[in-house]
Amino acid sequence: MKRNIGDTVIIGGGVIGLALAAELRLRGQDVTVLSRKPQEAAALAAAGMLAPEAEQLPEGPLLSLGLRSRALYPEWIGKLERLTNLSAGYWPCGILAPVFETPDVRLNQENWLEGEALRAFQPGLGPEVVGAWWRPEDGQVDNRRLMTVLHRAAERLGVNVQAGVAVTALSLRGEILEGVETDAGMFLAQNYVLASGAWASELLPLPVFPVKGEMLSLQMPPQANGAFPLERVLFGPGTYLAPRRDGRLIIGATVEVGNWSAYNTPQGVQTLLERATRLYPGLACWPLQEIWWGFRPGTLDEGPLLGPGPWENLTLATGHYRNGVLLAPVTARLLADWLTAGQSDPLLEAFSYRRFEESL
Ligand code: GLY
Repeated sequence: MKRNIGDTVIIGGGVIGLALAAELRLRGQDVTVLSRKPQEAAALAAAGMLAPEAEQLPEGPLLSLGLRSRALYPEWIGKLERLTNLSAGYWPCGILAPVFETPDVRLNQENWLEGEALRAFQPGLGPEVVGAWWRPEDGQVDNRRLMTVLHRAAERLGVNVQAGVAVTALSLRGEILEGVETDAGMFLAQNYVLASGAWASELLPLPVFPVKGEMLSLQMPPQANGAFPLERVLFGPGTYLAPRRDGRLIIGATVEVGNWSAYNTPQGVQTLLERATRLYPGLACWPLQEIWWGFRPGTLDEGPLLGPGPWENLTLATGHYRNGVLLAPVTARLLADWLTAGQSDPLLEAFSYRRFEESL
């Protein structure tokens, strides 16, 4: 069975695929999203941090991309929330990044806190914390809510989302991608986008690989004044604590390169709890709610693969590693500019898959 369905087929229904689909629809394109298992999306498993600074993205194109995307967030979320009448839990709460070892350069550094000033700013930190960087412009979004919002937005906008459809092969005619073969028949379009996250290398020999992250959540007890004890993200060594406004505390994450095992492990959960209680000991007695895992799409330099692919009508949008939620708005904007107007932002060049050509 052949289906002729318009301008763009996006392979992958995660945060990147859906964000781009919505943007393309808003610019008048017909868009189909093929989403094999929507529940496997890395963004569903994430913590939703918007943390180009706390993640210490290296100076250069990746930091520029991250800062640009963080700046797009308020407008992007506002647009999606108006469209859907749903909240994505965007919260520019700032991120405090405590450390256990005194950094070499700290005195008079802007945003460095220590001693009583730190303890007053953030009560409850563990005794081994020697100081912290305050990143007031970083923040968070409730990633699960964001995914609900994106699915609803796609529906409202008329994106053709094909859930449960698995792409089995890319069908080439010369230098052109003619269609994508799926377990529900062939899908045809003018342009194709590969946005299948950690699974991208199943269809193309790209250096994208899974980096498993185990996660868990606790319920924060309300204090006497009704507020929850944590009201900003704590991003410590090897762990982060992301408090939600409803009292959930998301704790992440392990970093397990090349691991496709689809379960939590005692070792993973133990590691998370040890690191989290070292950072903020009071949480040791809070109710444990949930444990889960996800697969980040890793790349060799931790930057995404964006823009033109190996064939004229194939665009890449994968390999966002730890930063898929953060980078969704800028990815959608830059790739929609490329797909609808042929405009290639200078930043895209730095994320071409060709930088890995030697390792392909
Ligand atoms: N962005 C945090 C993580 O991937 O664990």
